[in-house]
Amino acid sequence: MTLPVPTAADRYAASLRLSVAPMMDWTDRHCRVFHRLLAPGARLYTEMVHANAVIHGDRERLLGYDGSEHPLALQLGGSDPELLAQAARIAQDWGYDEVNLNCGCPSDRVQAGRFGACLMREPTLVAECVAAMVAAVDIPVTVKCRLGVDDDNSYENFLNFVDQSANAGSAMFIVHARNAWLKGLSPKENREVPPLRYEWAHQLKADRPHLPIVLNGGLATVEACQAQLPALDGVMLGRAAYHDPYVLHQLEAAQTGAPLQPREALLRAMRPYIEAQLERGLALKHITRHLLGLFHGQPGGRAFRQVLSEGAHRPGADWSLIEQALEITRAQAERVAA
Ligand SMILES: Cc1cc2nc3c(=O)[nH]c(=O)nc-3n(C[C@H](O)[C@H](O)[C@H](O)COP(=O)(O)O)c2cc1C
Repeated sequence: MTLPVPTAADRYAASLRLSVAPMMDWTDRHCRVFHRLLAPGARLYTEMVHANAVIHGDRERLLGYDGSEHPLALQLGGSDPELLAQAARIAQDWGYDEVNLNCGCPSDRVQAGRFGACLMREPTLVAECVAAMVAAVDIPVTVKCRLGVDDDNSYENFLNFVDQSANAGSAMFIVHARNAWLKGLSPKENREVPPLRYEWAHQLKADRPHLPIVLNGGLATVEACQAQLPALDGVMLGRAAYHDPYVLHQLEAAQTGAPLQPREALLRAMRPYIEAQLERGLALKHITRHLLGLFHGQPGGRAFRQVLSEGAHRPGADWSLIEQALEITRAQAERVAA
């Protein structure tokens, strides 16, 4: 008996089931290599990069990535269709698997530039941006959005926003299922204060069953994520993936049936990458800052974090610091178990 060969569409659908959110200053290339080792099938997103920066900036610094990171999406900020189309073309040339438009960031700087969450108020402009990007590339163009802004609690407005972008060719929607409040809340508060309404994402899927919908916001455990599937096409984790990255591994195992690897083995798989980066002159701290949560909630977890965060700043810090952190963590865990 021959098994059916998965089509590109099947592989795309499978890779939507789990993704890691774009997070400025957090999901840099080193962080993404770590997440890739934890969750081999997850979709990974870059930090947001403004279209202008993609076009005029230092591309190696802004767009460079390790080959292991696929499937990888570049998240763009901007609201000028022509600039976004140019940036999307560059992303495609760099080998990205998807271009995602940020319609969810509420920061003052982003509002001043008329992009991010304030675009929820301009569905027609967003659709023009999506159409321009779709015309420029063959890879999927997608949108990450909120439910609305400020006190706009109209599901009809949200549906209209999605419909316009879908008609313009957006291949998928990542719904951070709360409003963004553009005045009076910091970006951090905007990820906590406006109430989550997962039911809107479910309603959207019911109303537009053909549209792939990925749910984001407040998902932190395997159980919470699994409860949202299979009604939706996928879940995206942000802060939980960063602060407790092993949850990515547990989710991937739950979704694929692959056996769980111990934390220590997953970390050791980073060794060739880390040593290659040190060889190129990178300081260890730029990588270890993303690893600190690996033993979150585990005996010895605090010691692991402490050894790495203190030691990685010393000049010449290398892989042996990670071995030392693992040894101290193991010894503490054994003491707790005894
Ligand atoms: C430090 C940080 C930086 C973020 N940067 C971005 C960003 O660049 N683009 C974006 O669309 N969302 C950004 N977000 C929002 C996340 O992608 C995500 O939507 C949000 O954290 C809610 O998901 P969570 O509850 O799983 O963390 C950021 C979040 C954090 C914590």
